[in-house]
Amino acid sequence: MTIPLVIDTDTAQDDCVAILVGLLTPEADLRGITMVAGNVGFDRQVRNAFMTLNVADRLGEVPIYLGNRQPLVRPWVSAENVHGDGAGGLDMDFSGCEPEAEHAVDALLRMADEAAGELSIVAIGPLTNLAMAVRKRPEFASQVKHLVVMGGSNNARGNITAAAEFNFYVDPEAAKIVFDAGFTITVVPWAPLTLQQAVFGRDVLEQIAGIDTPLARFFTRVCSATLAFDESVGIPGTTHPDSLSAAVLLRPELITRSAQYNVDIETGSELTRGYAAMSWGVHGLAPNATVVEEIDAAGFQKFLLDLLARTTTPPRDLGL
Ligand code: BDR
Ligand code: CA
Repeated sequence: MTIPLVIDTDTAQDDCVAILVGLLTPEADLRGITMVAGNVGFDRQVRNAFMTLNVADRLGEVPIYLGNRQPLVRPWVSAENVHGDGAGGLDMDFSGCEPEAEHAVDALLRMADEAAGELSIVAIGPLTNLAMAVRKRPEFASQVKHLVVMGGSNNARGNITAAAEFNFYVDPEAAKIVFDAGFTITVVPWAPLTLQQAVFGRDVLEQIAGIDTPLARFFTRVCSATLAFDESVGIPGTTHPDSLSAAVLLRPELITRSAQYNVDIETGSELTRGYAAMSWGVHGLAPNATVVEEIDAAGFQKFLLDLLARTTTPPRDLGL
């Protein structure tokens, strides 16, 4: 049985890999990509998504919907210092690559209707589009079968500030709305999970370079900018929280430990803006999310490497 799926993304680096997971995993029925302001310039993100469709030879098959170009109430903050253009300088001929006219928020609501309770969403950017969808139609939360959110840290350090992870920092009000809305949520946190179990070191990256398919070459290029940044801040490789989020939806057996938490987002303080308070049972708060605490890291790595080993014939030259 296939899983009807939307990926809500700020497409750069690992977002591209997450889209590949949605495109190439047999169980996934990727019905749309919705774009949200986040990592790099909005139009650049859209081009990165089209290049990702191209490398998977799915150009023209999966619609891209443009969502919010700004967080709900705050100015956009980018991560261009981390990601560069988000695609390692790749480029292609974009003629005829047109996003849909329908707004991403309307597309999310429509696709939830069409899937009749079966739609899953992997949200790997700031949660602006999803918050807007809930504001427009509160029942949207109960129409979505499963929402996987990449964001926050589970009682551990942030990345854009000491307290906050990037996706929640950029639009904390949106994140708060989404966690209050009643979705069935699984959270893939930045720390400790991603840092401990979803980092690909130089040895793994060399293996991927050795695969030498268009997908593997694409992976190497889009991850190149972040590799340099990550190593400069002491992370021994490239980080893969977004592709892990897509993977755990489609392959839940990769989760080896998780627990129920109450997740709430700080919006009042500048110092801790976007901090995710992940409260476990002892605090007596009603759980609103399952937080992934541990994965089968070797299984996840194998899952991605097998995917990158598939042969595709990209219709447009990417200069790979
Ligand atoms: C998150 O922020 C982005 O830079 C990544 O794509 C990921 O979604 C990690 O904090
Ligand atoms: Ca992302």
